[in-house]
Amino acid sequence: MQTAAEGLRLSGKKIGLVPTMGYLHEGHLSLVDEVKKRSDVVVMSVYVNPTQFAQGEDLDKYPRDLSRDEKNAAERGVNYLFVPSDREMYPEEHLSFIELNKVSHILEGEFRPTHFKGVATVVAKLLNIVKPAVALFGQKDAQQAFIIRKMVRDLNFDVEIVVAPIVREEDGLALSSRNVYLSQYQRKQANVLYRSLKLAESNLSKGETSLEKVRSAMVRLISSESEGKIDYVSFVEPATFCKIEEAGSLAEILALLAVRFGQTRLIDNMLLKVRQRTQ
Ligand code: PAJ
Repeated sequence: MQTAAEGLRLSGKKIGLVPTMGYLHEGHLSLVDEVKKRSDVVVMSVYVNPTQFAQGEDLDKYPRDLSRDEKNAAERGVNYLFVPSDREMYPEEHLSFIELNKVSHILEGEFRPTHFKGVATVVAKLLNIVKPAVALFGQKDAQQAFIIRKMVRDLNFDVEIVVAPIVREEDGLALSSRNVYLSQYQRKQANVLYRSLKLAESNLSKGETSLEKVRSAMVRLISSESEGKIDYVSFVEPATFCKIEEAGSLAEILALLAVRFGQTRLIDNMLLKVRQRTQ
């Protein structure tokens, strides 16, 4: 991959990278559409990265279908599919990790304490291997996208990071490789994540500024209309990813949540406009 990428760069091609863990769906493929607008050659990585899974998480049963991924990626215009093995990515005892303070330890980081260390490390490795001019990530994983942007800025990676909007099913459920774990019954209920975010949007647009009240309304909806168990419903300032409890003077806030349906953990988020008070 390094040799191929070097050749492409020498011939003046602008490389775009889409990192994934495979089992491709329309969310992943929308990133290909976006990266194509910004590059000459599209590289997609498919690698289920073990360092971002903790003991007891779904590493072993994470869905995989490489031949389907190859077909979907090629049809959508991916030029190179990079599918490294564990032995290639972590050939010997791995001692170097990238860890971001603060933002890695809230929200997802509270429930998955080593997750973002694995994500940042593997994305850094992929950026160093492919050396793309631009790399695409999805807003679906808003905290991950923030962390990667921050890492790139903090550590002077020479790459443009672009974040693309969330692709949803017709009923609002955000596309995710993990949705295949849901039973039919759970799948029906799972759009309550989206509906709770729309409820928050509506409350904020009506002038509510107490995020505790917005959270309570969301929690009530989720608990009354599904069997989902809430890990968190939180609000952050989009520019800093700091948790907030009052919408106050902000024009926009980011609402994020994680809900478990049985063993399946779903995350979602939405950028919400805050109604500005007129004096
Ligand atoms: P994965 O979950 O396969 O997602 C790959 C990329 O697709 C991520 O940038 C993710 O945010 C984006 N994506 C997933 N679902 C989406 C949706 N419904 N709409 C828009 N984009 C969506 O995220 C990872 O893999 C890994 O952590 C990775 C970055 C590859 C590092 O291992």
